[in-house]
Amino acid sequence: MNHDLAPASTLGVLATLRRGVQVSPQLVEGAVLTVVLAVVAAVGRVLVPIAVQQTIDTGILGAAGPDVARVATLAALAALGLVVGAACSAWVNVRLFRSSEAGLLALRTRAFRHVHDLSVLTQGSERRGSLVSRVTSDVDTISLFVQWGGIMLLVSVLQIAVATTLMALWSWQLTLLVWVAFVPLVLVLQPLQKRVNARYGVVRERYGAMLGAVSESVVGAETIRAYGAAARTQGRIDAAVGGLRRAMVRAQNLVSSVFASGVLVANLVLAVVVVAGTYLGVAGHVSAGRLVAFLFLVQLFTGPVQMATEVLNELQNATAGWRRVLGVVEAPVTVPDPGERGHASPRGPAHVELTGVDFSYPGGPPVLHGIDLVVPAGSSVAVVGATGSGKTTIARLVARFVDPVAGRVLLDGVDLRDVRDGDLRRRVVLVPQEGFLFDGTVGENIAYGVRSVAEGGSAPAAARAAVDALDLAAWVDELPAGLATPVGQRGEQLSAGERQLVALARAYLADADLLVLDEATSAVDPATEVRIARALASLARGRTTLTIAHRLSTAEAADQVVVVEAGRVVEHGRHDELVVRDGVYAAMHRAWVAQTR
Ligand SMILES: Nc1ncnc2c1ncn2[C@@H]1O[C@H](COP(=O)(O)OP(=O)(O)OP(=O)(O)O)[C@@H](O)[C@H]1O
Ligand SMILES: [Mg+2]
Repeated sequence: MNHDLAPASTLGVLATLRRGVQVSPQLVEGAVLTVVLAVVAAVGRVLVPIAVQQTIDTGILGAAGPDVARVATLAALAALGLVVGAACSAWVNVRLFRSSEAGLLALRTRAFRHVHDLSVLTQGSERRGSLVSRVTSDVDTISLFVQWGGIMLLVSVLQIAVATTLMALWSWQLTLLVWVAFVPLVLVLQPLQKRVNARYGVVRERYGAMLGAVSESVVGAETIRAYGAAARTQGRIDAAVGGLRRAMVRAQNLVSSVFASGVLVANLVLAVVVVAGTYLGVAGHVSAGRLVAFLFLVQLFTGPVQMATEVLNELQNATAGWRRVLGVVEAPVTVPDPGERGHASPRGPAHVELTGVDFSYPGGPPVLHGIDLVVPAGSSVAVVGATGSGKTTIARLVARFVDPVAGRVLLDGVDLRDVRDGDLRRRVVLVPQEGFLFDGTVGENIAYGVRSVAEGGSAPAAARAAVDALDLAAWVDELPAGLATPVGQRGEQLSAGERQLVALARAYLADADLLVLDEATSAVDPATEVRIARALASLARGRTTLTIAHRLSTAEAADQVVVVEAGRVVEHGRHDELVVRDGVYAAMHRAWVAQTR
């Protein structure tokens, strides 16, 4: 999907785990004590079979006849062992849970922060969304393993080891029998577990598809209603829900049969041990107490073996998830900040120059070819051209949301790649074609970028200043609650023109040296149009401006017009010069005049 952006890392299982632990060292903090506690817990569990064996062989069948006091002592010891073991295993759970939560917190934070670094660049919002969901669901897979699987694996392996040791001390023949009976079970379970996982993979996929279908229908409700597509949409949701149900049933069916056959084999082994043990007992090789104790041990052994095979598969899922998250965390930032090594860029009139700039989006065809463009300090340049000709891309390059593939973008003679990011963001502000409004009030949205407000300053005061400076007071007073009017999610309670006004006021407060304006394409009523034009004029005063102009009136007012066609500059000059030159711009102008008359 977005392999060009953040390919999954290609490390092996062990290397992935090692790398994962490097990224989240909290995962293994205090691991030594945890393992010691787990050993105590496993030994505590084995005390019961030992007590059973001792009770039978020395307490009941002892040479001196039944010894009730000894039986009572053994029972008390076994009980104590169980309590201590249980306490230790509870403690192990708590410790593992703590360390894994701390580790995952670190991983999540790091991954999301990195997604944010990546997302300022070329990523469209869907890609960003899929990155976020990738990180979310993959971290969940990892968390399933490090919390549940990790505990189980540790406890299981220890229990298998302790039980096997004890069994081997009592009867190597029976121990061999148990192992031989279990090897085939493990061999059969392994591929079955893989199929279970594959079916759960389908379940997850369908779940995602269902969420997608549902959320699209909610977000696109207006379009769906407008085109009378409700039935069709409902059909798609029904299909997605049905698909999810079928996948779940298929997965559950397999799980049930795998589980049932595991239980069956475990009990068969128990039966074989009883028969073989009795035979060995009759032959004098195994005492009655050891035989009975063995039955307990077999159970301490079979449970963990099944558990361990399941966990091993869980481990594979977790490593796959880990690889993908590491791929995100380690994806290089495409617009790296030179930091301290970079040039400081002091405030003042900004001079911008593009020389021989080529650009293509990752994995896409070339979009810009050899762009040369100069915006002298304090002047205004308008870029015009057909839709898709590359105007917004030029704006993104100038604001360094992306870096050119060839050529350079210079701010006061310094390549943008060498300018410290903090300075760059203070000096250059891009007002995007569709500015994003956050759920809140008009005032809060205007004051969004203001540092002093972010640090607790007064939003209304800052917003009011911007409104007055851009001559928008009349508009604000018409709003139902003035600056306190809520804008709704993404500003949907405002009209398109009002959203533009908010975006302009926001840009005013950013107080940049270079303003990069990507004019909105949406048409607005004449009154708002006038307001926007006036606000733009005040906003541009005293600054260098590069405007992506969709209205030729903007181009007309600019000092210089640059005409772009299919990613190339085909004409540049003053508006009136271009109009009489009878080229691309003159044709655009004639069409515009004819339309506005
Ligand atoms: N994020 C992106 N990823 C890949 N390709 C992109 C991306 N954004 C734009 N493009 C492609 O780059 C080309 C130029 O797009 P751009 O947005 O710069 O055009 P534009 O001149 O601003 O158009 P409009 O007037 O419609 O805003 C188009 O062919 C577009 O498909
Ligand atoms: Mg555009």
